[in-house]
Amino acid sequence: MDKIVSLSKRRGFVFQSSEIYGGVEALWDYGPLGSLLKNNIKNEWLKRFVRTRDDIVLIDSACLMHSDVWKASGHLEHFTDPLVECKGCHKRFRLDKIVNPKSEIQNPKCPDCGGELTAPRQFNLMFKTFLGPVEDEAHATYLRPETAQSMFTNFGIIQESMRLKIPFGIAQIGRCFRNEITTGNFIFRSREFDIAEIEYFVKPGDDEKWFDFWVGEWEKFFLDLGLKKENLRKYEHSKEALSHYSKRTVDIEYKFPFGWSELAGIANRTDYDLKRHSQFSGQDLSYYDEEEKKKYYPYVIEPTVGIERIVLALLCDAYTEIEGGRTKTTKPTKEIEILLKLDKKIAPIKVAILPLVKNKPEVTKKAKEVYQLLKPYFTCQYDETDSIGRRYRRQDEIGTYLCLTVDFESLKQNDLTVRDRDTMQQERIKIKDLTEALKEKLKN
Ligand code: GAP
Repeated sequence: MDKIVSLSKRRGFVFQSSEIYGGVEALWDYGPLGSLLKNNIKNEWLKRFVRTRDDIVLIDSACLMHSDVWKASGHLEHFTDPLVECKGCHKRFRLDKIVNPKSEIQNPKCPDCGGELTAPRQFNLMFKTFLGPVEDEAHATYLRPETAQSMFTNFGIIQESMRLKIPFGIAQIGRCFRNEITTGNFIFRSREFDIAEIEYFVKPGDDEKWFDFWVGEWEKFFLDLGLKKENLRKYEHSKEALSHYSKRTVDIEYKFPFGWSELAGIANRTDYDLKRHSQFSGQDLSYYDEEEKKKYYPYVIEPTVGIERIVLALLCDAYTEIEGGRTKTTKPTKEIEILLKLDKKIAPIKVAILPLVKNKPEVTKKAKEVYQLLKPYFTCQYDETDSIGRRYRRQDEIGTYLCLTVDFESLKQNDLTVRDRDTMQQERIKIKDLTEALKEKLKN
C-alpha cells in the first residue's frame, strides 16, 4: 500500500487535500493523471450502462436536498456507526471495526494505547449544514451521503417526461459526503467521494430475477475494466447485517493489500424508498402499469460503486515491479522498474511522444508536429527531458500504453517507432498512417 501511495503522489495521481497545511484525514485531491483516470472510469460506466442501453437514463442532481428527504430515507435514524472514545488518549474508533460483533470480548480496550473505552454511542455519518444565513434547525440539512435519493424523489417526473416503462433505470454519478469515523487505507474510506449508481425499477415479483441479472452485469463490468478475476469475489450479506432498506445485498469484494473489502454493491431496496417518499411528501410515487392495468410501487435493484474504490483497485491490480529492469536502453541494473499495467481504455495517457534527443531542433520539431497531429484524437503527452530510457520508464510507471519515438531516421523516412507498453515491441509507422494505426491499436 505504501508503494501505491508513494507512486500516486510522485506521479500526480492522488495526494492529500490541503497538504501544505498538514493535510486533512480522509480528504484527497486527484492530480492531472488521477483526474484523467477517474474520468476514464466514469466514461466506461456511462458507455456501458447509459449510452449503449435503451432502458437507463442519466440525471445530475443537487448534492443538497430538502431535509425531509433524509427523514423519509431513514438516513437520520439509521445511517450511523457505533462510536467509542478512549478515555486515555481520546482517540475515537468505530466499535464494529475493533471488535467482531460475534466475539465474546465484553470490554474491548483502545487498540492504540490499551486504555479504557467509553460506552458506544450512535454517530450519524451525514455532514450537517445550513441553507441560508440562519443557523437554526429550521434551516438545517445534510450533504448527501448517496446519490440514490434524488432518483427516488424525481421518479415520477423522470418516468413521465421520458415516457419510461418498467423495467427501466435511472443512473447518476455524483459527489457524496460521509463523516467517516474510521479512516486510513488511503482513498478506500474517504469523506468525500463520487458514487456511480443505478436505481433499476422493476415489477414486484420480478425483483429476484433482476437482482441476479445485475450481479452478473456488475461482475462483468469490473472484469472488463481490467481487474484480475482472482482478485474479485462476491460476498452475500447476512440477514442481520442488511441495511434498513434492503431485502438482499451482495458486495463485489476486491483483494486490496489490506485484505478483501467492499469494492461495489448490489442491493434489492424493494419498494421501501418510493413508498417512504410518497408517505412523507404526500405525493404519489406509484407507477401505473398499462399492460397490467394496475398501479404499484416498483421494486428497486441498485448496483452501486464508489469511483475512488475502483481507482484504488485498478492501481493495486496494475502495479507491477520488474527487478533488474526491462528497458533495452538501460544498462544491467539492480534497480526495480515499475510498470502500471492499466487496461488501455483506462490508462490516463494513451500516447507519449518522445524525441530521441532534445538538442537536435529538427528532431524535436518533428516530434512536436506529431504531438499536434495526435492531440485531437488521443490523450497525449510530449516529453523531451532526460534520456530516452528514463522517459520510457517514466511512461511505464504511469501506464502510458504507446510510446512514439522520433529519431534521425524519422527525418528521412517520415516515420517513427511505436512501442507497446506490455510487449515492448517496436514497429515503424509512417506519420501519414499514424492516426488510423493508433486508433486501431487503441480500439477496445
Ligand atoms: N446507495 C447505496 C449506497 O450508498 P454504500 O455501500 O453505502 O451504498 C456505495 O456505498 C459504494 O460507495 C460502496 O460500494 C463503495 O464502493 C463506495 N463507498 C462507500 N463509502 C465510501 C467511502 N467512505 N469512501 C469511498 N468510497 C465509499
